[in-house]
Amino acid sequence: MLPSQRHLFDIPADVSYLNCAYMSPLLRSVVLAGERGAQRKARPWTIQTDDFFVEVEELRTLFARIAGCTADQVALVPSASYGMAVACRNVPVAAGQRVLLLDESFPSIVYPWLERARQVGAEAILLPRPEDDDWTETVLDAIDGRTAVAALPNCHWTDGGLVDLVAVATRLREVGAALVLDATQSLGALPLHLDVVRPDFMVAAGYKWLLGPYGLGYLYVADQHHTGDPIEYNWIGREGAEDFAGLVHYRDGFRPGARRFDVGETSNFALNPMARAALGQLLDWGVDQIHGTLSALTSYLAAEAAALGLDVASPEYRAGHYLGVRFPDGVPPDLFRQLQDARIYASIRGRSLRVTPHLYNDRNDIDRLLDILATTVATKD
Ligand SMILES: Cc1ncc(COP(=O)(O)O)c(C=O)c1O
Repeated sequence: MLPSQRHLFDIPADVSYLNCAYMSPLLRSVVLAGERGAQRKARPWTIQTDDFFVEVEELRTLFARIAGCTADQVALVPSASYGMAVACRNVPVAAGQRVLLLDESFPSIVYPWLERARQVGAEAILLPRPEDDDWTETVLDAIDGRTAVAALPNCHWTDGGLVDLVAVATRLREVGAALVLDATQSLGALPLHLDVVRPDFMVAAGYKWLLGPYGLGYLYVADQHHTGDPIEYNWIGREGAEDFAGLVHYRDGFRPGARRFDVGETSNFALNPMARAALGQLLDWGVDQIHGTLSALTSYLAAEAAALGLDVASPEYRAGHYLGVRFPDGVPPDLFRQLQDARIYASIRGRSLRVTPHLYNDRNDIDRLLDILATTVATKD
């Protein structure tokens, strides 16, 4: 268990920010890195050719350490939807086949696959939310010889509902189907065994559990797709891109690994140093340690919320860094405003109050939330 790391963030004493799934606050060190990075372009003559490449490679390497892959397998993208577009372009789907998605998934994951399925005459299936919270069984039941690909999260973005990726990936491999992951709401806070799961592609926006700036995300690309088609054909993805004078000579080859999928202007001199500082801090803490610490907070909240008569998923069906608090008659319309008035920040997604802490939170934040929940429940009675 890690002690509170609140001192590393700029969070006023009376704010209980329980909304990392919306966007994380930036570490002070990340803000500083961004300020320094932005200042570099005030003096562009100090930016050397090497700076376009070396720093990007450092970022790739840090992300690879968090994800459990190699730097060669990492592309830098501006958003999860960009990464998903790359995956959609490269995973084979034929007429009559099926694309499996979880119902109420984040739209960036759903729209590209609906469109791809429509274009090729495949069927996109939104698997319904299971009454018993067992998403894994729901997905396993749906996989058969018609499945071309499943595009899944490790945990559902609305309430942390868990998908056992090892079980699902094994079944998908048995039927020869691809696996594309959206790890935006899990990577950095929920341990992932990428070497066992072995997805085809995995996207992760960087501004939530990876504690980075908005506008920078990551795409893991399995080796068998390294010869695939990027969605843009930019200069920096080409071999020989380091030779700026030679850019007038067009080349057929790409830089190695997943680099061909990098977004244009990937050498962002403000965002990349911020992301490097954030990932470095995550590695210092350790994802296992983060997960253990956050799980203790959500377990405490789960027990106390249940004692108030509120409903939560049992621990085997939810990710430890998340808690969806469900109200038997729906989320009270006043709750969000009451929380805001008390400077407690959480989200309402679907029929859950989504509570997503990080290391700047401690029991005091949970107790403040519980006080409001207790009042809400009492007022209803
Ligand atoms: C599950 C999930 N994926 C992706 C995103 C962000 O997608 P994008 O980077 O395309 O804006 C979010 C944002 O809330 C999310 O919850």
